[in-house]
Formats: sequence, C-alpha cells, structure tokens
Amino acid sequence: MTARKLPPGDRPLKTLERVISKSGIGSRSEARRWIAAGRVTVNGKPVLDPDHWVDLERDRVSFDGNPIASAKRIYLLMHKPVGYLTTYRDPEGRPTVYDLLPERGRYVFPAGRLDLDTSGLLILTNDAQFAERMTNPEFHVPKTYSVKASKPLSDEQLERLRNGIELRDGPTRPAKVTRTGVRAFEITITEGRNRQVRRMVEALDAKVEKLTRIAIGALTLGEMPAGTVRELSEQEVKGLVR
Ligand code: URA
Repeated sequence: MTARKLPPGDRPLKTLERVISKSGIGSRSEARRWIAAGRVTVNGKPVLDPDHWVDLERDRVSFDGNPIASAKRIYLLMHKPVGYLTTYRDPEGRPTVYDLLPERGRYVFPAGRLDLDTSGLLILTNDAQFAERMTNPEFHVPKTYSVKASKPLSDEQLERLRNGIELRDGPTRPAKVTRTGVRAFEITITEGRNRQVRRMVEALDAKVEKLTRIAIGALTLGEMPAGTVRELSEQEVKGLVR
C-alpha cells in the first residue's frame, strides 16, 4: 500500500476518488477507473490521480463535463416513490430517482440512499460536504421511518429495537421507537447503515412490509405527494447542518 499524502492546512479537503464515489454516481473502484480514464476534471483539466486533494469550496469538479461540486448550491427534497432506484443509471433500465427530476440540466446526487422498496424523503444536492454531513453517522442526523411489519410485534420486541440490536456489522445505536399499531411503529435512527431498518426488523424474526422515511432532522414528509420534488429553503438547509 502506498503512503497517503496528507492534505495541507485545515481546509475541508477530500480526495478526488472520495468526491466522485460520495456523489452517488458510482463505487470507489468505478471512481478510480473513471479518474484514470480522464473523465474527471478539476477546474476544467483532467486529473488522473485518484488521491489528488480537492477543496470543495474552491475547486470545480466535473464528471463527463457535468459539474458535481459547483459554486451554486442546489438542495432538493423528493418524496421518492416505491419502485425507483436511488442510483444515477441502472444497467437493467429500471426507473431511477433522476427520472423524477424536473430539470435534467442541473446535476445533483442523492445524499444517502433509500431501497427500491422504500418510499419517503430523499435529499438531492450538488453539495458534497452537505451530503457528507447528512450521511456520515458521526453527525448523528436523525432519520425517522414509518414501518409496517409482517406480524404483530410485542412491547419487548420494540424495546429491543430501542436499546440497540446486534446486526452482523455490529450493534445498532439506541433508537427512538413509538408504537402506532400492532404491526406498525415509527423509528428514529442516526446511523443509516445499508438496509438497516429492514435488518433490525429481521432480527426480531419478522419482515418489513412497508417502509417510508417520514423525517430527516426537522424536515417532514407531511402532505408532499409521492414523486414530487421541491427546493429546500436556506433556513431548512441551515437547520439540517446545525
Ligand atoms: N433502512 C432500510 O432498511 N431501508 C431503507 O431504504 C432505509 C433505511
């Protein structure tokens, strides 16, 4: 393994590979391939080194000519319907959240993912630092889900979710859980691991029948119809990063 160069000073720097992979358009290995192929530019020039440090407050990074970190920040809130993938492109041609964006010219990427079968709030942005804050568990941004399980759950089972439950990638953090029916509850978590809520329910020997993200921080789904998108206000964005 080669030694990692350290970023100079205390600016908010990220490696080019991380900027690309965190943008939601591909994995880390894809990002390295695309960078090596010259498809990624920094301030208009191709940079072939995936470990190149990028200052997101100053540098303009583009992929195939589309800016992925530009000066004008865009923050969109979508009510993602079931049946849409949270990816840029699907090799099988299934619908993606990009099909629901009114303006295809402005490049944004999802700040986190929702499963194909999950509906609810999804933020799309071109602000990689903001996206990192929304998705990195270190920032503890609470996300609330409405869950319908395949069978009735006892108070003891809900208490296990509250206290933290052992999953194959370690125990979950304590969660806020409120019963809303014999098979239904709302859960607030601050991690967002892959398929976390589904796996927590499976650990109780049940399955998730319906999963909807109803809140991210103070943002709530409210009456927003499925498939619609709106811009977040400056105040709402500030509220999320506070
Ligand atoms: N937890 C899940 O299991 N799936 C989601 O889509 C979001 C949270």
